[in-house]
Amino acid sequence: MSGLGIAIVIHVLAVVWWIGGLAFVTAVFLPAVRHGLGSDPRAAFYQIENRFAPQARIAVLLIGASGLYMLWRLHAWNWLAQASFWWLDAMILYWLLFVLLLFVLEPAGLLKRAIHGAADEAGMWRRMQRFHLLMLAIALIIIGAAAAGTHGF
Ligand code: HEM
Repeated sequence: MSGLGIAIVIHVLAVVWWIGGLAFVTAVFLPAVRHGLGSDPRAAFYQIENRFAPQARIAVLLIGASGLYMLWRLHAWNWLAQASFWWLDAMILYWLLFVLLLFVLEPAGLLKRAIHGAADEAGMWRRMQRFHLLMLAIALIIIGAAAAGTHGF
């Protein structure tokens, strides 16, 4: 398999791992928390978060490295300026947002402050689920558009 082939395999598998985890948190875990999972939902959330965040960081690093390698190998920098490749710009913006969230804001304690500082706990979980739902919806749009776009549809 060529370097390009290896890069696309790594890229897609890392996307599956990361966005699959995001889908689980959004569609299974947070609804369970909101409907009374256990006596201490904050502790349950931290348990999940502490395990998933390092995995998401590794996936995000692999996605960035393989994506940049593909851009370089395909001589595709000019695609970034073409409207029909909007999904490529969207991928990079989405990736940058998560670099900020996972490598800067979360280690700085933003998530813990948001969870512990909330006076209205039910409202906090609702906002948390809405945020995850928005991020998941954007990821699905990007993945769908990338799958169609790379195959010329
Ligand atoms: C720095 C960030 C990123 C860069 C530079 C990048 C770059 C690329 C490139 C160059 C391709 C191959 C295009 C082609 O073969 O014509 C690709 C494919 C793909 N990317 Fe990204 N990407 C990045 C982030 C992401 C993110 C965050 C996602 C998901 C949310 C994503 C999902 C995909 C998918 C699903 C494909 C494969 C489509 C297919 O072959 O069916 N990428 N990416």
